Amino acid sequence: MQADIGSELDLRLTAIIYGADGTNLFEFRTSDGRDLPSFTAGSHVDVTLPTGAIRQYSIASPESDLSRYLLGVKLDPKGRGGSRCLHEDVRVGSILKISLPRNHFPLTESAPLSIFIAGGIGITPIHCMIEKLQALGQNWRLHYAVRNRAEAVFLDRFAKAGDRVHLHVDAETNGSFMDVASIIQAAPLDAHLYCCGPAPMLDAFEAACAGRPQDHVHLERFSAPDVVAAAGGSYTVELSKSKRSITVQAGQTLLQALQAAGIKVKISCEQGICGTCETRVISGTPDHRDTILSDEEKASNETMMVCCSGSLSPTLVLDL
Ligand code: FES
Repeated sequence: MQADIGSELDLRLTAIIYGADGTNLFEFRTSDGRDLPSFTAGSHVDVTLPTGAIRQYSIASPESDLSRYLLGVKLDPKGRGGSRCLHEDVRVGSILKISLPRNHFPLTESAPLSIFIAGGIGITPIHCMIEKLQALGQNWRLHYAVRNRAEAVFLDRFAKAGDRVHLHVDAETNGSFMDVASIIQAAPLDAHLYCCGPAPMLDAFEAACAGRPQDHVHLERFSAPDVVAAAGGSYTVELSKSKRSITVQAGQTLLQALQAAGIKVKISCEQGICGTCETRVISGTPDHRDTILSDEEKASNETMMVCCSGSLSPTLVLDL
């Protein structure tokens, strides 16, 4: 899927900008002023935090501006600590390791109409997509749900878009959520539909889009409801770079076996949804369990997500 698996940049945090209540925009640039690698609307990067944890954040800035990556991060006091670290510990001027951008949420630029449904911080990749469609003169609509008006990011930007933007504020509608099903029902059949937000919104979106052409339906999840890591029978994994051979025991996951053998693997979500652990497969047939690779990519067996996937063949040879 990716040409530059594992590649990273040392980027300087040059500004922290207030985005909305609880959300800051973190601006990263190269230290020498050179342009950043190009990306496409909907991309995200892996950020390695000072704690060593790796987190994914979507790029909000337009793909035409390669002077910076602007990442929207909402503080989640109940999260795993990534947003807290960025909001409370990381200072302007710090250098952080940032992966090359990856895109699991690509935009179809030629659609006659693109309808976006965003919940909370899910607006970040969608803002980038809308910037692209605006530049192309394409037709789009945005339905943006927030709990309180003060939590809405990019409101000044969207204020110029008139009736293309519908803001749904839960607190101003007696706490009722945005009616995703009605939005989808009213959408023309040739529209491309996008959703990024909390799991209940994504579930409602998927259910409402069940009868739609699936190549017109696009969503990005930040948690995986049903990924079960492969832990079936025993198999052998040969590691081409470290020239080692390890046995994955029955009932053990590949990741557990790699970690037990002291093999360093970059991981973040451990749910097959972020792509951080993507690893080249040299030979063998993976038991793919992730929700990132397309069916074609899975069938090609060129790469796999080692956090959750296993092996269907007795031996798997990996580029590790
Ligand atoms: Fe996220 Fe494996 S760590 S896909």
